[in-house]
Amino acid sequence: MKIDVFSLFPEAFTWYLDQVHVARARSLGNDLRVWNYRDYTPLKHAQVDDTPFGGGAGMVMRIDVVCAALEAVYEADAARVRETRRVVELTPKGRQLDDALAAELAGGDLCLLCGRYEGIDERVTHVVSDRVSIGPYVLSGGEVAAMAVLDAVIRKVAGAVSNPESVTAESFAPELDGGVEYPHYTRPAEYRAWTVPEVLLSGDHAKVARWRQEQIRRPPT
Ligand code: ADE
Repeated sequence: MKIDVFSLFPEAFTWYLDQVHVARARSLGNDLRVWNYRDYTPLKHAQVDDTPFGGGAGMVMRIDVVCAALEAVYEADAARVRETRRVVELTPKGRQLDDALAAELAGGDLCLLCGRYEGIDERVTHVVSDRVSIGPYVLSGGEVAAMAVLDAVIRKVAGAVSNPESVTAESFAPELDGGVEYPHYTRPAEYRAWTVPEVLLSGDHAKVARWRQEQIRRPPT
């Protein structure tokens, strides 16, 4: 799988790219690249944004700059990039990220467009295939949202997480009927008066499995 992220702050991704499951996904042949729009702007003084038509606060990222970056990286018309991969704008106006959307996005190559300031010029709709939000709140830019999408997607890339069961039996997965995962406990078995459910210490695997199944059905608290 090839993933490209476009941002005005590519350094925001440095820590994330060093994470062990990301490194593993890359070593398995997946490609994750972060591009800076500013490196491709056709405008003077590395300009990437402008004041909004009609007036108002803030700056808007220019569509010609976004398209120039896409065209430089993909060597194709910006409006046709979405024919070969999902092109996702991170925006609070988008479809809310959930496990099903993460699974969809993990199904092919992916391009993530991070906005800053007031966002990207609305004509970005001619370029993207999807608009994705990570929740009903406004962040200062798309970078944190892109990392949430990346992480949810990369966990689904075969081999990225060393124990595949920890992904398939994960909260919200179809294997759990969209429910939340059962609770986990580890040593010490006795700590203050905070108890561990007896069944987990019983050594009775069938009982443990039944207990876990019951817990899965509980809605999040
Ligand atoms: N950019 C700013 N806020 C956002 C959000 N909630 N989701 C995705 N991208 C964003």
